[in-house]
Amino acid sequence: MLASCLTRRPFTAARGPTAPWNYAVRPKARVAVMAGVALQGKQVVVTGASQGLGLEFTKQLLDKGNTVVAAVRNPSAGLLQLEQAAPEGRLHVTQLDVSSTASITRWAGGLRDNCRGLRHVDVLINNAGVYGSKVDLKTVTEQDMIACFKVNTIGPLVVVQQLLAAGLIGGFGGKTLIANVSSKVGSVDDNRGGGGYPYRASKSALNIVNKSMSIDLAGDGVTCVLLHPGYVRTNMTGGQGLIDVQESVAGMLGVLESSKPLNGEWYDFKGEKIPW
Ligand SMILES: NC(=O)c1ccc[n+]([C@@H]2O[C@H](COP(=O)([O-])OP(=O)(O)OC[C@H]3O[C@@H](n4cnc5c(N)ncnc54)[C@H](OP(=O)(O)O)[C@@H]3O)[C@@H](O)[C@H]2O)c1
Repeated sequence: MLASCLTRRPFTAARGPTAPWNYAVRPKARVAVMAGVALQGKQVVVTGASQGLGLEFTKQLLDKGNTVVAAVRNPSAGLLQLEQAAPEGRLHVTQLDVSSTASITRWAGGLRDNCRGLRHVDVLINNAGVYGSKVDLKTVTEQDMIACFKVNTIGPLVVVQQLLAAGLIGGFGGKTLIANVSSKVGSVDDNRGGGGYPYRASKSALNIVNKSMSIDLAGDGVTCVLLHPGYVRTNMTGGQGLIDVQESVAGMLGVLESSKPLNGEWYDFKGEKIPW
């Protein structure tokens, strides 16, 4: 007994169960991840569905014959109109603040009860996002950085964590496709303009969160992909942009339905890969 204690190698961080480099020796996926998914008859969650791209995701997904759980801080008039027009049980409007772990935990834990018929999330679109107010080097504050990270990085991560805890994604319930809406502004290679500290950093961090999840969840039949919507006319851009929400969302849904390899990858609305 004593001898075996003495010969046992001391525990080090490098051998610890949570050391990230240990993931390299994880067993191969037990359930194959997906390329694309036919977006019809699916149960889809969209966060930040009250306006902009999130509202348009909800609209187009309903038009394609899916059931949508729209997760919003406050339902907008546009979303309530969609709810009235949607066939019974096809659009569930739920309350969620992605900047609050307590709100996410409550929301995920109550989904089965609040959305009749929901047994599994086939597709999750982590769309909610903020740009931040003070974004340049002279004025940016700790609070600005934290506020963006809470919504853009930690929110999507905790949404996935809590849906997993609720048994709603992957596993025995079936495959799940997670689309994390990032931004080219979070690309290190593409950053030629500087500034934008809270948004750039929080979207870059979302990218590495997506990559780790794409590895950690592959064995559970979960695919994790990053999307860039393009430069889209919404409130976030002050109505400026090169395209409308209709074109952006149709393009991004096309990527999710395509036969491209999705897990751990990053595509724009045209299906072009974005440099990291
Ligand atoms: N527009 C672009 O050119 C562009 C480009 C690249 C990436 N993106 C990304 O695309 C996504 C959608 O952006 P958008 O252009 O549609 O912006 P938007 O019109 O400002 O919409 C943002 C959405 O996120 C929601 N949201 C913000 N904070 C939230 C919170 N704490 N909890 C729950 N929901 C919250 C907003 O809810 P409220 O209605 O309650 O405010 C709103 O529904 C974002 O992730 C954004 O970073 C946009």
